Amino acid sequence: MKHRVLLTGGAGYIGSHTYVALVDAGYDVVILDNFSNAAEDVPKRLKDLTGQDTTVVKADVLDRAALDRVFKGHKIDAVIHFAAYKSVAESVRKPLAYMQNNVVGLINLMQAMDDAEVRRLVFSSSATVYGAHAELPIREDAALSYANPYGHSKLICEQIIEETIASDPRWSVGVLRYFNPVGAHPSGLIGEDPAGVPDNLMPYVAKVAAGELPVLSVFGDDYPTPDGTGVRDYIHVFDLAQGHVQSLNALERDGTGHIVNLGTGRGYSVLELIATYARASNRDIPYKIAPRREGDAASSYADPSLAKAVLGFEAQYDLFDMCRTSWVWMQTSTQTAD
Ligand code: UD1
Repeated sequence: MKHRVLLTGGAGYIGSHTYVALVDAGYDVVILDNFSNAAEDVPKRLKDLTGQDTTVVKADVLDRAALDRVFKGHKIDAVIHFAAYKSVAESVRKPLAYMQNNVVGLINLMQAMDDAEVRRLVFSSSATVYGAHAELPIREDAALSYANPYGHSKLICEQIIEETIASDPRWSVGVLRYFNPVGAHPSGLIGEDPAGVPDNLMPYVAKVAAGELPVLSVFGDDYPTPDGTGVRDYIHVFDLAQGHVQSLNALERDGTGHIVNLGTGRGYSVLELIATYARASNRDIPYKIAPRREGDAASSYADPSLAKAVLGFEAQYDLFDMCRTSWVWMQTSTQTAD
C-alpha cells in the first residue's frame, strides 16, 4: 500500500517542490497550508505538474482541532513539517509571532501526531543554527548558536525534538539543516514567490535581471573570501526536495532519526552568483557595493558527507542550473501575474 505523508506548508516554495518529488516517488500526499505565504493556485499547478488530483486542507498548524481532523480523516504515516515563518528581518520586528508560529506550531503538531500515534517526522531546519562563525566546511557536530529570533526559533525546535525523542523512543525524526535553497522546477510552474522586496540574494537578483528592481546591493566586498564578497552553499530546490524523500525513506528503513546538512559542499560568492545569473538570463545585472549586512557570515558551506552516508544524498545540479530555472520561473510567474 502507498504510504501517505502530510506536508504542512506544502504549498510553499520548498513544500511544493517536495510534493512533486514525493508523488514521483510513489507517495500519497496531503497538503496542509494556511496560504499566508503561498499562492491559492499552487494546488492546481501541482495537479498540472503531476497529473494527479491534489488533496489540500486549508488550515493553520496553530489550529489543533484542524490537525486532529486531518489525522482522523486521512490515514497518515508520516509528516514533513515545512510550515513556518522564515524572514530574519521580520523576526527581529516580530519575535513573538515567530516563536508562536514556529515553536508553538511544532509543539501543536507533535502533540496531535502523538495522539494520532504518528511519530515519524521530517523537520525543516536551517544552517542558521550554526550561527555566523562556524568552522568550514560545517559539520553537524559544530557548536550551535543564533543571532536573531528566526534562528532562535529553529534552534528551540531542534531542542524540543531532541527532548521528545529522548522521552519516547517510538519517535523517529529527520532534522534537515538546509543551506541556501534556490532555483525552481524546470517547468516554470512552481518557484519561490516572496511577497514584496526579497531579503535573499537569488530572488533579488532575479528581479534585477527582469528590470523589476533597478540595482542589487552587494552587502560587503571586504570579507576574507577570494573576491571579498560573502560565500554561500546554494542548493537547487529540486535536490533539496529529493533530500526529503531520502530522509523519509531512511526513517522508514532504519526506524531511527538523523540530523543532517543538505547542501552541495561547494561555496559561491555573491559576485560569482551575479555573473552566472547574467549568463543564464542573458541580461545585465547592475550592482553596487554596499556596507555589510549585520549578522552575516563571511562564508558558509556544508560538509555534505553525513547526508551522503545516512541518506545517500548527493546534490546533482550546479549553480548554472539554479540560475537558469530561477530565470524560467521569474519569466513565467511575471506573465501569470500580469
Ligand atoms: C539568510 C538568513 C538565514 C536564513 C536564510 C533563508 C540572514 C543574516 N541570514 O541566509 O538565517 O536561514 O536566509 O534562506 O539574513 N546578499 C547581498 N545582497 C542582497 C542579499 C544578500 O549581497 O540583497 C548577500 C549576503 O550578504 C550573503 C549572500 O548574499 O553573503 C546570501 O544572502 P541570503 O540569500 O540572504 O542568504 P543568507 O544570508 O545565507
